[in-house]
Amino acid sequence: MELTIHPSATMERLRERLWQALEARRVPGFWLYGSPAQIGRWLAYHDAYSPSRDADTLRRLYRTAFDVALARLGTAQLDQGRLDRARPAGAVPGRAGLHLVSLGCGGGGKDLEALAAFHGPRAGAAGPRPPDAHYTPVDASAAMLSEACGRVGAAFPGVAIHPLVADLEAAPDLAGWWAGEPSARLPRLVTCFAMLSNFEPAPFCAWLRGLLRGGDVLLLSAHLTPGGFPAGAGPILAQYDNPAARGWLAGALTELGLDAAAYELTCRAVAAAGAVAGAGAEETWQVAVEAALRRSATLAPFGRSIALRAGERLRVFHSNRFTLASAAAVLAAAGLQPVQRWSDAAGEEGLFLCRRAT
Ligand SMILES: C[S@@+](CC[C@H](N)C(=O)[O-])C[C@H]1O[C@@H](n2cnc3c(N)ncnc32)[C@H](O)[C@@H]1O
Repeated sequence: MELTIHPSATMERLRERLWQALEARRVPGFWLYGSPAQIGRWLAYHDAYSPSRDADTLRRLYRTAFDVALARLGTAQLDQGRLDRARPAGAVPGRAGLHLVSLGCGGGGKDLEALAAFHGPRAGAAGPRPPDAHYTPVDASAAMLSEACGRVGAAFPGVAIHPLVADLEAAPDLAGWWAGEPSARLPRLVTCFAMLSNFEPAPFCAWLRGLLRGGDVLLLSAHLTPGGFPAGAGPILAQYDNPAARGWLAGALTELGLDAAAYELTCRAVAAAGAVAGAGAEETWQVAVEAALRRSATLAPFGRSIALRAGERLRVFHSNRFTLASAAAVLAAAGLQPVQRWSDAAGEEGLFLCRRAT
């Protein structure tokens, strides 16, 4: 398996994007997961706080969504002749293969579930070969990719894995990138979990739409606020305003050379009225974590000097929060048609199965 670096994520480009973001007083998302130490801190935080909801219930929710997504792909209007040519000899007849694209794959846990749904019960060594499966995890962090590939490769040795380092914030041309690949002939399931929260919703969704061909589907998660804003913000802020999350975010600042004594980390709810066309003020907001500078400090990442003055605020992290309606609205405005949606019992996680609107 070869790790490919997309032009959006060369060292030179990432360095440029880091400088630009810091000049705009923002830490870019990829920096939070950039080193093995940061991934360790993120995993510690994730394990401690993310399954605030019942992990099994959430897994079942994802499994249902994967089953529906795959059933939909099986009936999608893809060219059957091209699918037949893509299927290797001996593959199960009547089932197309799959190109699973996982955007911001993280450790690949949800991808394992998707591939388990695709493969179904094992037929045994003597049974027919499963259909052709290609897996493209995409992430800005090579360490995350390595983790995802290791787990998927161990569980599904027959799956062809094509890890891609890319900066999704740069809206890379991935559709063109895949056009000449063997996987291009297969139906594509694009997954995008826990990512919409970190990007500008409208341009990011427009970019996602560009990845889908006529018969492909997108499964995307959105973080929701059951009580709306501001009423429901308190319990959600607590998921970010805690020692594990602070350890993770402060770690990213330390790796920028910012002394912990030079700032105070604040976590607050910020109104985002107007972020989604047509959505009311209570339907979309942001968790914003900032470093408020107690004293001036000079950062020097990769040799570029960036001076921060006392009193300035550096945006370290943000998470967009939606309601089911405002998330559906941002998808629809970008030309993504939700065909089915689910939410967990707590109402904090929404899953949207989308296809490209014609
Ligand atoms: C919150 S985690 C989500 C992981 C996984 N999708 C899940 O649901 O468990 C965010 C992931 O996005 C990646 N990421 C952050 N910024 C990125 C960027 N600009 N381009 C590509 N990946 C990025 C991180 O490295 C990390 O793996």
